[in-house]
Amino acid sequence: MKVQIMTDTRYGNGKLLAEALKKEFSNEIDVNIADVKEVSPERIAEDVPNVIILGGAIRMFRGGPKSKRWLKKLNKILEKSGNKLQYGTGFLTHAMPTDKVQGYAQRYLNKLGEASMVENTYSELLTARVKASKGPIFPEEMEKAGVYIKGFIDWIKPE
Ligand SMILES: Cc1cc2nc3c(=O)[nH]c(=O)nc-3n(C[C@H](O)[C@H](O)[C@H](O)COP(=O)(O)O)c2cc1C
Repeated sequence: MKVQIMTDTRYGNGKLLAEALKKEFSNEIDVNIADVKEVSPERIAEDVPNVIILGGAIRMFRGGPKSKRWLKKLNKILEKSGNKLQYGTGFLTHAMPTDKVQGYAQRYLNKLGEASMVENTYSELLTARVKASKGPIFPEEMEKAGVYIKGFIDWIKPE
């Protein structure tokens, strides 16, 4: 089982979150972290991970536009190769209060749902609030992330 976590991080908060998520997977699972600004969808498509966790950030009132574009490209490449990724979910980091980002989270999750080459999209997106633009992520948000990813791991577990 291969898990690919993507980030679009400016100050490293998304990367810290990705690392915290990675820790929750068992050692037999190969979890790789990369940034959408550095690793092309072509590279990831070649690798054909079983799971994609697409991270992004809300900036200028836009929910992860770079990550969404990256996903669109990935999907096109996968359509050509015919390779499907089994499971997908994602996260958004943000500074606004959590209740104000639910619409962003839903639209972001919808993009994952619309990606035809990602077979199963998790029902919930992870959001993680930062104290200020540069961080850090609120400690209770890191706890929430731990609970979230455990639920996700249970969901992808083979019967
Ligand atoms: C230029 C800029 C614009 C931002 N606009 C928003 C915003 O509209 N809403 C929001 O919740 N957070 C906003 N933020 C805060 C980012 O969400 C925050 O910097 C980011 O989630 C931190 O994660 P990173 O270190 O992985 O980049 C903004 C940050 C920057 C730098």
